Formats: sequence, C-alpha cells, structure tokens
Amino acid sequence: MRIVSIVGARPQFIKAAAISRKLRQRHEEFLVHTGQHYDYDMSGTFFEGLELPQPNVNLGVGSGTHAAQTGKMLEGIEDVLLAERPDCLLIYGDTNTTLAGALAASKLSIPVVHVEAGLRSFNRSMPEEINRVVADHLSDLLLCPSETAVNNLALEGVTQNVHLVGDVMLDALNWTRERGAGAEAALLDRFGLKKKQYLVATLHRSENTDDPIRFGGILECLNSLDEPIVFPVHPRARKLILETKFQPMPDLHLIEPLGYLEMVALIGSARLVLTDSGGLQKEAYWLGVPCLTMRNETEWVETVQAGWNVLVGPDPARIAGTVKSFSPPGEHPTLYGDGTAAEKCVDLIGLNSEPMALAVRA
Ligand code: UD1
Repeated sequence: MRIVSIVGARPQFIKAAAISRKLRQRHEEFLVHTGQHYDYDMSGTFFEGLELPQPNVNLGVGSGTHAAQTGKMLEGIEDVLLAERPDCLLIYGDTNTTLAGALAASKLSIPVVHVEAGLRSFNRSMPEEINRVVADHLSDLLLCPSETAVNNLALEGVTQNVHLVGDVMLDALNWTRERGAGAEAALLDRFGLKKKQYLVATLHRSENTDDPIRFGGILECLNSLDEPIVFPVHPRARKLILETKFQPMPDLHLIEPLGYLEMVALIGSARLVLTDSGGLQKEAYWLGVPCLTMRNETEWVETVQAGWNVLVGPDPARIAGTVKSFSPPGEHPTLYGDGTAAEKCVDLIGLNSEPMALAVRA
C-alpha cells in the first residue's frame, strides 16, 4: 500500500516514529510535516532522537490562529494527496494537524486511519477535543489505545472498524529506554540533582497558559515548593513567562524543551511529575512515577483509577498540598497494552484496505 502520514506537533513525531518503523517494513510511506512545530527543539531533535525518517514534504505552516493554521494546512495537504493519490492517510492524536489531515483526505474520498482514536475529555472548550471529535467521525479505521476510548466512540455511534490496539507511545518509550543509557546521569549532573529528590513540571495547554492569572498562580506555586523542580518550558508558556517577568527561585530550573530521550530519563528519576500534558501522564505511569495533573479532567482516566495520577486543577493551594501528601498505592496494573501497538496498527491497516476502499466507494 502507498500511505501518506501527516505529522506536525511534538507528540506526533513520537507516535509516528513507533508506527513508521513497522509500516516501512511492509508498505510505502510518504511522510508530510505540516510545520505546526518548527523550532529545532520542538521538531528536528525528535526526528534525530527517534530515528524518524526526514519528511518528504514540509508545508512550513508555522504558528497562527486556529483557523489560519488549519486553513493553510488544508491547502497544503490537499496538494500532496492529489499528487500522491495514496491508498489511505494516517493521522495521529488531536492537534490541528490531525484535523486538517482528516478533513482534506475525507473530502477526496481517501480513507483515513486515526491512531489514538476515541479519546475524550468531554470539555469542548479544549481545541484538542474538537479536533478529536471531528477526526474520529471522518475516520474509516479507528485505532484506540484503551477500552474507554472504544466505549467513547460507541456512545457516539461509531462502531465500524474500531479496534483496541494499545498505545503506540509505550512502544516508543520502550524503544527509547533501550537506547537511553547515560542520559539520566548526565541530566542529574547538569542540574545538581539526586535521584527521586526532584520534581518535573510541564505546562502548555491553552486553558492554563492563556489566562495570565491562572498561569501566574501555578508559577508562583511552583516557586514556593520546597523541592528542586526541572521545568522544560514549551514555547507557548515561554512567551508568557517573558511577558510577566516572572522570577524563578534558584531551585526552579526553567529550561528549553528537552529531546525525547532526555525527557524520558528526567521523568524516570523524578519523585513526582506535575503536568497538563497527556503524554506525560502516561509516561509517568509507565515509569512508576506519581503524577499530578493540573487540569480538571483527563482523557487517561485509567491512570487516575489506578491511583497513580490525581487531578489537581489549577488551584495553587491544592497543588502545593497534594505535592506533599500524595502517595500512590502499591499496585501498578498494566495499562494501555504491552508495547506492541504499532505492529497491531500496521496489521490492521493491511487487513482493512479492502473494507476501507469499499466503504468509500459505497
Ligand atoms: C499543540 C497541540 C496540542 C499538543 C501540543 C504538543 C493543537 C490545537 N494543539 O499545542 O494538542 O499537545 O501541540 O506540544 O494543535 N511555537 C513556537 N515554536 C514551535 C512551536 C510553537 O514558538 O516550534 C509557539 C507559537 O508561537 C505558537 C505557540 O507556541 O503560537 C503554540 O503552538 P501551537 O502549535 O498553536 O500549539 P501547542 O500549544 O504547541
């Protein structure tokens, strides 16, 4: 099969690396980068670190309002699809890149395969939630990381070509851990930290970064915690930190975004993770690190049910109190599959080429 894959934002490079490695053993892949993320440390470093092949095309879309960014992507992706005429299009996750890919391909009657289908926060004020709903309803093959995701789709009447495969991010994490020797010691040394005696923080969701009072409250809270914190700062948060002239205490290390290998090493040795990222909630879980999620809901409800993740919202007092008191249980059930999700996805893409094509012709 000839398959076009669309990536554009940081978590998609991680997911695509896991799939691409398996996909290219059996099929021909044409990789499109929309350019949604363009800084080297948000993009290039992931291609290198995860050995993801360089994109065949980079649309260079860059930043913009949601409509402007998505509109430019739509035009660029349509051109690629008209030229390449693939058997299907592969989209990942829930970003504007995902949405644009789903829209462009479905209007050309090109079957859409969605990796990480069915996730819901049930909060439509999140741009990612809009992207998920639209992408899922336009997809012809839906590959889900959890039983919850399969059920979410069923509740919306989507039951055809829906499969539980597990999470391809676990495949990527395992691949990286096998290659990460030495990264941990170098990081601890760089910041003068001791294993399990520091916290990792990340913050980039628009709900947290677009409201200066909410964002400022979280930053002041981190500043007041009595433990070293390493905070790799996403560009969206960096802008606001610069604007507010926030002064971090010496133990709060605000650093540039890290590559994936270093990030995995940093999380693995932390005492606790504080985040609003979806990926980090799962990575913390798989690495056996307790997690506080600075949101009011999560798509990864199983980590909360297992007792290793707690939703603390943006409230500084609640965050500070839970950082001190949170203690996960002894049990740590296996979540989101066994690290072979990419292989399952590629099997299903091969098997479903006929039904997908038939669905489109009908
Ligand atoms: C996007 C996704 C989000 C995903 C996240 C991972 C959407 C709606 N959101 O959020 O689901 O979890 O990526 O990081 O698609 N910027 C740079 N350099 C870059 C990239 C971004 O400076 O390389 C700045 C731009 O000024 C931009 C801002 O960061 O305005 C936000 O970038 P954007 O692509 O809009 O969304 P993210 O917040 O990264």
